[in-house]
Amino acid sequence: MNGTEKIINQVNPYKPEPARIVRAYDLTDDVRFFQVRFADMDLALSFKYEAGQFAMISVLGAGEAPFSISSTPSRPGLLEFCIRKTGVVTDAIFRLKENDFIGVRGPYGTGFPIEMMKGRDILFVMGGLGAAPLRSVLLYCLDDRDHFGRISVLHGAKRPAEMIFRDEFLHLKKRSDLDCYLSVDKDDTGEWTENTGVVTTLFPKVKTIVPENTAAVVCGPPIMYKFVINELIKLNIPKDQILMTLERRMKCGVGKCGHCAIDYIYTCIDGPVFTYWDVLHMRELI
Ligand SMILES: Cc1cc2nc3c(=O)[nH]c(=O)nc-3n(C[C@H](O)[C@H](O)[C@H](O)COP(=O)(O)OP(=O)(O)OC[C@H]3O[C@@H](n4cnc5c(N)ncnc54)[C@H](O)[C@@H]3O)c2cc1C
Ligand code: FES
Repeated sequence: MNGTEKIINQVNPYKPEPARIVRAYDLTDDVRFFQVRFADMDLALSFKYEAGQFAMISVLGAGEAPFSISSTPSRPGLLEFCIRKTGVVTDAIFRLKENDFIGVRGPYGTGFPIEMMKGRDILFVMGGLGAAPLRSVLLYCLDDRDHFGRISVLHGAKRPAEMIFRDEFLHLKKRSDLDCYLSVDKDDTGEWTENTGVVTTLFPKVKTIVPENTAAVVCGPPIMYKFVINELIKLNIPKDQILMTLERRMKCGVGKCGHCAIDYIYTCIDGPVFTYWDVLHMRELI
């Protein structure tokens, strides 16, 4: 870890660093993509994070909120976020334009256990905004392709217009080194050529699964977990190889305020990435 990282991560973990919005565009009606770069170029190039971690983004006068980092650590220099407009902070972020500045502090929380995942087949299951954190780990695996086995992606959305990164995933379908399956609950366009049905209807399409050699990576709305986990258990994937990233209300992001605590677990530092085994012992996590 270099000096600058120590300053933002350890000496004053509350201090946001200014970052310029390099690109911003709509992914859906209420979700916007932001690509940002720290104003301090040394920091931009040396900033280290793990796929699955999050950052606190702030706008002066509005406050701050946690957001998953959607870019991959294998491509340093720029950070990407995928943000849904839901309230005070996100409204303020949506009013910003390219070249405006936001504050970024982090990275926080746990990342996906990449070393455990290496050498295994990886099955991604994502729904809605769950694509935001999982895109980071998917791009990471694709950038380091030789270290992973078969990669399968199941991505679901309510309607075609609500599929986050739809064009990017349609493009991934053309690659021969992964199997990417897309589904919408309902096609209201008449032009959708992929699967229709909830994301679990994609499971029969997945090619051979060797459970003990598979890591499943899951993120989506709370209702999705129950059904997806049932499928993964039916496939005999070991509970400690079912990995999920979970959101709780957070304020400080660094284990100080107690906002995210469930018993002795602080989801901002013990999570947001958990195994199904963790969740079995603490059902309030979902
Ligand atoms: C680790 C983590 C990663 C996240 N990653 C992303 C991301 O990549 N993209 C993204 O758009 N959002 C993400 N979120 C959620 C985001 O932080 C909240 O939506 C944020 O608080 C919105 O701030 P606001 O001031 O705009 O909304 P507020 O004014 O605080 O709230 C608006 C509405 O959203 C509800 N709400 C706020 N926070 C949450 C929450 N955590 N869960 C459920 N409902 C909530 C409130 O009850 C209210 O109804 C993440 C949250 C966590 C904890
Ligand atoms: S958000 Fe403050 S302790 Fe976790």
